[in-house]
Amino acid sequence: MTIRTATIADLDSVSSVESLCFPSGEAFSRDMFARNLRRYPGHFWLMCEGSKLISFVHGLATNLPNISERMYTDAQLHVDNGRWQMICGVDTPPAYRCCGYARQLLQTAMKDASRRGKKGLVLACKDNMIPYYASVGFVDEGVRFRSAYDGLLRHQMRWHAPRRLRKNTTHVPSMR
Ligand SMILES: CC(C)(COP(=O)(O)OP(=O)(O)OC[C@H]1O[C@@H](n2cnc3c(N)ncnc32)[C@H](O)[C@@H]1OP(=O)(O)O)[C@@H](O)C(=O)NCCC(=O)NCCS
Repeated sequence: MTIRTATIADLDSVSSVESLCFPSGEAFSRDMFARNLRRYPGHFWLMCEGSKLISFVHGLATNLPNISERMYTDAQLHVDNGRWQMICGVDTPPAYRCCGYARQLLQTAMKDASRRGKKGLVLACKDNMIPYYASVGFVDEGVRFRSAYDGLLRHQMRWHAPRRLRKNTTHVPSMR
């Protein structure tokens, strides 16, 4: 398994994994991924088995401390050296679930966010996912908004980068 950040060449595989993970009304469209991959490819973390994409995590960076659904769709809101790394999607197709892949990618995003000088990671999730993200290190901050996609409430969860790990705001590409 390898973990790397993305390029626009990953558009097909990212879109196809998304369609295996989310119903059509909730899934990011191919156009949305194209815009986001062009604007912030270094903020997509991909796990690959050979050339096959088996899990990914993505989201823009911003100086705003709270997540909103507009951040999922508006790539222009990305600020590369923004203080917070948002996590707008976490995807593992059914055949590869429960092997710890999403957890490893979230941990990689945490390490990269720390090295990039960010204050931490922020995501929004439904009630059922709170224990999982808490087990990765996120803290539930309570209900933040009702999703325009499914009408269900979303909790905001945050992980603070330990101060000792935060360096500066220089971008360090994740290569491993
Ligand atoms: C959630 C998801 C990304 C997890 O990917 P993964 O690579 O299997 O994650 P990990 O192996 O690190 O962890 C698996 C854990 O996820 C949790 N989990 C996954 N789906 C869950 C659900 N619907 N409700 C509650 N917990 C869930 C479980 O706690 C599971 O733990 P287990 O091993 O005890 O069963 C994957 O199931 C997925 O793509 N689901 C559909 C899209 C989605 O809901 N994304 C998250 C939106 S916030």
